[in-house]
Parts: sequence; C-alpha cells; structure tokens
Amino acid sequence: MMLTHDILIVGGGLTGLRAAVGLCDKFNVGLISKVYPVRSHSIAAQGGINASLANNPDGRDDTWEKHTFDTVKGSDYLGDQDAIEIMCKEAPGIVYEMEHWGCPFSRFPDGTIAQRPFGGGGFPRTCFSADVTGHSLLNTLYERAVYKKVKIYPEWFVTSLCVEDGQCHGVIVLDIKSGELIPVRAKVTVFGTGGYGRVYRNSTNALINTGSGIGMAYKAGVPLKDMEFVQFHPTTLIGTNILMTEGCRGEGGYLLNNKGERFMQKYAPTAMELAPRDIVSRCIMTEIEEGRGFEHPLGTYIELDLRHLGKKKIIERLPGIRSICMDFIGIDPVKKPIPIMPSQHYSMGGIDVNEKGASPIKGFYAAGECACVSVHGANRLGGNSLLDTIVFGKLAARAIEEELPKDKLKPKEKPLLSLKAQVEKKINKLTQAGGERPYKLAADLGAVMSEKVGVFRTKKEIAQALDEVKKIKERYINVSVSSADPHMNYELHNAIELEYMLEVAHTIVLGALLREESRGAHFRRDFPKRNDKKWLKHTIAKMGKKGDPLISCKQVKITNYQPMERKY
Ligand code: FUM
Repeated sequence: MMLTHDILIVGGGLTGLRAAVGLCDKFNVGLISKVYPVRSHSIAAQGGINASLANNPDGRDDTWEKHTFDTVKGSDYLGDQDAIEIMCKEAPGIVYEMEHWGCPFSRFPDGTIAQRPFGGGGFPRTCFSADVTGHSLLNTLYERAVYKKVKIYPEWFVTSLCVEDGQCHGVIVLDIKSGELIPVRAKVTVFGTGGYGRVYRNSTNALINTGSGIGMAYKAGVPLKDMEFVQFHPTTLIGTNILMTEGCRGEGGYLLNNKGERFMQKYAPTAMELAPRDIVSRCIMTEIEEGRGFEHPLGTYIELDLRHLGKKKIIERLPGIRSICMDFIGIDPVKKPIPIMPSQHYSMGGIDVNEKGASPIKGFYAAGECACVSVHGANRLGGNSLLDTIVFGKLAARAIEEELPKDKLKPKEKPLLSLKAQVEKKINKLTQAGGERPYKLAADLGAVMSEKVGVFRTKKEIAQALDEVKKIKERYINVSVSSADPHMNYELHNAIELEYMLEVAHTIVLGALLREESRGAHFRRDFPKRNDKKWLKHTIAKMGKKGDPLISCKQVKITNYQPMERKY
C-alpha cells in the first residue's frame, strides 16, 4: 500500500494543526501524529502567548516594535531581526484569530484578553488562559481541524524522511496498532514535530519529545541551525522537573535562597525574577553552587514563593501549578514555597528554515520548535514559543499555498519503496534478540547531556560529552528490543528514535564545543564573554559523509538593532 497526499503534515501539535487548517480547503492534506493530537506536547504549555495587545493598564503603549526589540535583546542578538519583526507583527492577529475560534483566554474586568508580565518582556504582553494556555489553544485548533475535516492519522509513527536528488518525496510510517510500514508520498512534507527535550535526563518535556523529527531531517540531508542553544527553564519542580510556569513569577512570585533573600536583586536589579530565562537559570545555579540552596534527598533547590499572592489569586491564575505541587510533592503553594531547580525546557536550534518554513530541500518545510527560523536566537523569551508555533504554522501554509501550484513537484514512488525496504531491514535487525536494550543507552545519553552540557559549560566537560555520545553511537549498532511483536511495540519505536536522538545530541555537543564564547543560554565558563567579532553568526550542521556533523556558519540578519550589552 502507498498513500498519496498533496501535502503531508507530521505532528499534531499547534504548528501542524495550524498549517493543516490553513491548507485543507484547497489541497488534499494528511496529518500524521504519533499520539492523538490533543496529547501533543503543546498541551503542556502553561504560561501564555505574547502579543502587543496593550490591554494591561501597565502596558498601554506596547507595540509590535517594542515586542521585536525585547525579543532581539532576549535572543542575545543572535535572532534574525527580519523574521522577529514578522512574528511580532503577526502576533496580535494570531491571538484574536484564536479568540474568534473559541480559545477561552483569561480576561480583565473590562472583558479584554488579560496579559501578564513575563521574563525579558518590557511590557505585560503575555496573554494567557489561567496556567493551561497550551491546553486551551490546542483544543481550540483541534476542534477547528475537525470542523474543517482535516484527514488525521493518529498513532502513526514516522520512521524516516525520504529525500533524493535534493527533493523530498514523503515519509515512511509505522502504524502503531498494526505494525504495518506504509510509504506516504507527498508533493510537500511539513514537519511540526516539536523539540528534543528527552535527549536530556532532566527536562520539562513530555516523553514524546525525542527530537526524532529533527534527527530524521538531519539524517536525510537537511541542515540544522544553532543546535548548541538549549534553553533551561529556571523553575522546574524538584525531582520530576515538571514546569512551574514563569507565570508564577509573572503574577508576583519570589525566588528565595536559604538566607531568605530575593537574590535576583544582586544580579538583575530592575527585572528581578522577570529577567530572561538564561540569566535567571544561571543565577539559581550560582546560588546553589555557592552554598545558598536548600538540601533535599532529590537534590539542592531554591524556593519559588507564592504565599504572598494569597489563595484567591493562586486558585484563579495558577490552579494547575497548585494541583501539580500537591499531587507530585505534597506541597500546597498557598502555604509553603515550591522547591525548584532549572532543567532543559526548549530547543532554540533546529531544522534550518526561512520565515516561510522552507528548508534547502525542495518540498520539505518545518515550523515550530523543531525548526530554527531563527526568531529566538541564543535565548527564547517565555511566551514566544506558542506564538512561534502558530505564526509559522500559518505562514508555512500561506507560502505552500502560493508555491505549490508553481513548483509542479512530482514526488517519486521508487525512493520511497527503497527507503521502506531499508526500514524493514532495520526493524528486522532491531528485533533480533541478544543486543543491548535501548533504554540503557537513552539513560546514559540523558545523563551525560544533563551533567556535561548544561547551564554552565566548559571545554573539558563538553569534550567528555562528545566522547561519550560517540561511544553510545557505537553501542547503538548492537541495540535490540525484547519483543518482535509488531502491535504497539513502543520499545521498538524508542529504539528507532534513539538513533535520531544520538544525532541530535552529537550536533548540540559539537556546536557547544566550537562556539568559544558565551551568548544567551550557551554559557562557557572558559569563554565567559560574548564575542560579536567572531561569533555573531549562526552555526549550520550538516551530516558529513562519515556520519559526523560538519559545521559551517551563516550571517545573522540585523535590521534596526545593533548589538548592545544586555542589562536587566
Ligand atoms: O513558563 C512557562 O509557562 C513557559 C512558557 C514558555 O516556554 O513559553
């Protein structure tokens, strides 16, 4: 069986759904998702989506230009300013579109969409739906997709991307229920496959966030951009690393060390707890390293104190946070501070695309967290991720609508059939008994990434990580799973994804080793200063002939904002 669509979208989160909704009236669109779309990781986004609506009484003179400047500065000047302008200009329209499609945003008493302050934003411009903004947006877009009769294939797992002669021909899919391998041919394939958080042991990300889409594209010859830039969210619950939204601080929460001090005063006297994430994460780690953290069997932590906000506000604005704390650590934030520590949260780098989502491969597009436009540069601002997913899902759809009739792409069957045969062979090998189990390699990979390529980095540690990643890649050759049953064989899917996770990790580590400066979330203790002369540029990773990444550079686009020192 071979399936054919004009446009194939991979990923059922906000990006994929928004692209599908934009294209399904005119084209034969199929959307593939390895989970039911409403279980995509977009559901986990808590705090909000940025747009300069200027509804907040403290932010009446907010504009898209100010949003652009805050984003450029937040990116440590590595974001492409033309693309950032586009995103910030589109933002108000996107939020109102989602409102009109039924998204239940929280409101101010005058009925306008409520907005709270977020880190690094000069104005309170983060629109929210209590602390379940991703949940509200995703369900709204899913309903829209169902209403528009988008053809959805849930629980279909993409094993490989088919690229030949610089053109994408589609993908090979594994139907999770039947175990059948199905080639899907398409003129255009769009990835909205999300981030790679699970390459790290400590992450806020869902278990499905393996970065397999990024690794798959890379293995098929698509370049990746700025992979060394990994975001660490400052406030994640100790033990599980569940996100404690920046909205906690946006609503007025404090960060306290074991002396009871609001230590951010020392580091970012103006923005305090609402400095950007890269800075707040480093400050927390510094407090911990210098002995001002709290000890706990699960690790050393800092306190996020919400008690002064009062029960009413916590229940109204942060109900999810309260129940997560009560369920997972037995703490009611109305009565006690929350024990937090930084952990991996977001992938600034990803598949190298332009602002239309187009990659250098004909017929292959990507948007959202798996892609790097780049609008986040070296450090993303909170609230700009949900925005990125919807804006660039929409803009990719618009570009495809214009380009597809002109391009006259003819995807071929033959490369898909030969790729299917390769995947069959691989599955046969993975299901031979006797090899090392994939979970062991995944655990070793997560540990080395969390321990050696974290908030603070040194040449020595990154080199150790590189060595370890290469060793795990060698071990991968002999990996096998415990059952050959084709039905719902998640261990087999994990084994397939692990190969892509290792490629993703390899590009992160190599990029981190080469970038001998500190910028945004990439902080090198041995090169603690930003070096615009040498490093105001993107890194591009391409898979070399021997399998190692080859790194080159690309200029950053600067329009109105010359690089300055970041002060908060
Ligand atoms: O803290 C948060 O609610 C996360 C938001 C984001 O990553 O944009």
